[in-house]
Amino acid sequence: MLSQIVLASLAASAASAASIQGTKSSYLANEEDQSAIFPFLAGAAPYFPYPLGENYYKINTSIPETCTLKQVQVMARHGERYPGTSEGNKLIKLYNTKFANLSKTELADNPYFNFLVDPTYQFFLQNNASLELLTTTEDSLTGALNIHAGELTALNFGEAFTKKYKDLIGDTLPVFTSSNSRVYETAKYFSSIINKYLGTTINLQVLNELEKTGGNSLTPSETCDVWDFPVHQDIVDAMDTSYLDNLAFRLNNATEGLNLTSSDANMLFDWCAYEIDVSGYSPICNIFTQEELVLNAFSDDLSSFYSDGPGNPLVKSVGSVFFNSTVSLLKNPPKEYSAYIGFTHDVNIQHMMAAVGLFDTDELMDSKFDYRNTVYKKSWITPMGARVILENYDCGNSSYVRYVVNDAVVPIQDCNEGPGFSCELNDFYKYAEDRLSNITAFGSACNITNLPTYQSFYWDYQNVNYTAPIAVQSY
Ligand SMILES: *[C@@H]1O[C@H](CO)[C@@H](O)[C@H](O)[C@H]1NC(C)=O
Ligand SMILES: *[C@@H]1O[C@H](CO)[C@@H](O)[C@H](O)[C@H]1NC(C)=O
Ligand SMILES: *[C@@H]1O[C@H](CO)[C@@H](O)[C@H](O)[C@H]1NC(C)=O
Ligand SMILES: *[C@@H]1O[C@H](CO)[C@@H](O)[C@H](O)[C@H]1NC(C)=O
Ligand SMILES: *[C@@H]1O[C@H](CO)[C@@H](O)[C@H](O)[C@H]1NC(C)=O
Ligand SMILES: *[C@@H]1O[C@H](CO)[C@@H](O)[C@H](O)[C@H]1NC(C)=O
Ligand SMILES: *[C@@H]1O[C@H](CO)[C@@H](O)[C@H](O)[C@H]1NC(C)=O
Ligand SMILES: *[C@@H]1O[C@H](CO)[C@@H](O)[C@H](O)[C@H]1NC(C)=O
Ligand SMILES: *[C@@H]1O[C@H](CO)[C@@H](O)[C@H](O)[C@H]1NC(C)=O
Ligand SMILES: *[C@@H]1O[C@H](CO)[C@@H](O)[C@H](O)[C@H]1NC(C)=O
Repeated sequence: MLSQIVLASLAASAASAASIQGTKSSYLANEEDQSAIFPFLAGAAPYFPYPLGENYYKINTSIPETCTLKQVQVMARHGERYPGTSEGNKLIKLYNTKFANLSKTELADNPYFNFLVDPTYQFFLQNNASLELLTTTEDSLTGALNIHAGELTALNFGEAFTKKYKDLIGDTLPVFTSSNSRVYETAKYFSSIINKYLGTTINLQVLNELEKTGGNSLTPSETCDVWDFPVHQDIVDAMDTSYLDNLAFRLNNATEGLNLTSSDANMLFDWCAYEIDVSGYSPICNIFTQEELVLNAFSDDLSSFYSDGPGNPLVKSVGSVFFNSTVSLLKNPPKEYSAYIGFTHDVNIQHMMAAVGLFDTDELMDSKFDYRNTVYKKSWITPMGARVILENYDCGNSSYVRYVVNDAVVPIQDCNEGPGFSCELNDFYKYAEDRLSNITAFGSACNITNLPTYQSFYWDYQNVNYTAPIAVQSY
């Protein structure tokens, strides 16, 4: 029933979009589904469910029969967005200097770039006015036909969340968001669905991400001035990047007048990913070989592992702020509500995961692609619209928790024998205590002296009222 309401409202907005956007590009309207390559686009492509593999260990995400939901905790990334200021301006420059003036006659037979001569094709960044922002059906080149707009991902998440967790949502619900515009907009779209179906009054609390607020934040890394960033740069730098040289050579060789450098070639993956976020489809995605896509993903996994992932010990300290809250919310939940929801950025979710350890084998990643040590797939954890959910349910006389990462149950190592591959609550407390005992506390690791070291907003928002100003630039 929920779906029908959403579909009806989408159809209505599609109809109005068609008239408003009659002059926008029609090139992209009927193109094929490109979701198979999303896992290779370094977290810049649209949302996709965590790909454990077709039916392989695909654990049922329904709450097991005979169990009753008790609490849910959510950390979510904003939906699909435009590129950031730096990468966006570079992409515009690349397009204008190296592609816009290629000879149309030459391009007609070009195996890679013939889309550039299609009169209905428009490069997705006509200017830099929207950089950093969430993509919406209103500003997409294809209007409501862009099924990958960040707005729709947020609405769909709101719908799925409402369906599954409605019993935990009362008459009023605080929803927490960092103060970045795209994050805030995502939280608003998500919240509007809960309000629409359940009549819940949403109390949006905005936490400042541009000011140093210590641990009482959805972006605690902002306050960590001793950021040792990144560690093991030598391992990251040692990765063989000849796939980029080969890509540039292959494209230049096929295209009269084109003179891409290897770093230009690297930017084409961003062109591909963000063009899908903005327009719903990107013809440049078709130029890559499978090997290039795999190495692009691996390169990002490797650098992320050492900058914002479990390869950087300081990251675990920063992420322990979230993990500590997870445990506090279970042990000492605020009485007035049972759904704890925070919207923030991809790196903050990565920090939390590094502390929790769902994707940490304790082994360092090697600069050489090693299939046996690729547990840490950053873009599978935090694509656009990522959501990491902790479910707490009671079965019989016991309580259990489990993590659902992007629509897939990801069991905790050595603690997953409960119903639905969950971890018995006291065993989870033990797991958390063991893991946190090995992690230097946030306050000491980040030299926090005069600021809070933990999140109090879930408990004190009614007395404090978090009302940070919304900002386009992120921290
Ligand atoms: C998943 O679990 C639910 C609840 O137990 C059940 O109704 C559903 O059939 C299950 N789905 C699959 C594919 O097994
Ligand atoms: C491309 O062509 C336009 C119009 O012909 C011209 O104004 C512009 O300077 C050219 N740009 C480059 C980088 O050659
Ligand atoms: C947009 O591009 C112009 C011209 O390159 C530049 O001066 C300006 O700073 C850019 N603005 C943003 C928001 O990136
Ligand atoms: C370079 O282009 C030539 C002529 O189009 C072609 O025969 C050759 O295979 C290309 N080389 C590579 C490495 O793509
Ligand atoms: C291609 O670019 C490189 C460096 O960007 C430059 O040295 C070279 O002369 C250029 N080649 C052509 C044919 O424009
Ligand atoms: C964990 O959070 C609780 C309150 O939620 C706080 O009392 C405690 O000091 C925190 N632990 C650390 C190490 O910050
Ligand atoms: C739950 O606890 C009650 C009383 O302690 C006991 O009688 C009952 O058998 C228990 N049920 C289960 C499913 O363990
Ligand atoms: C904590 O560190 C010790 C020593 O490095 C290690 O043996 C142990 O497995 C670690 N425990 C956890 C929970 O990571
Ligand atoms: C820690 O903070 C104090 C006071 O804010 C400062 O004096 C000191 O230099 C800092 N230490 C490090 C290692 O950054
Ligand atoms: C917080 O906001 C609520 C709703 O606007 C208001 O009723 C309450 O008085 C505020 N509390 C404080 C301490 O400002």
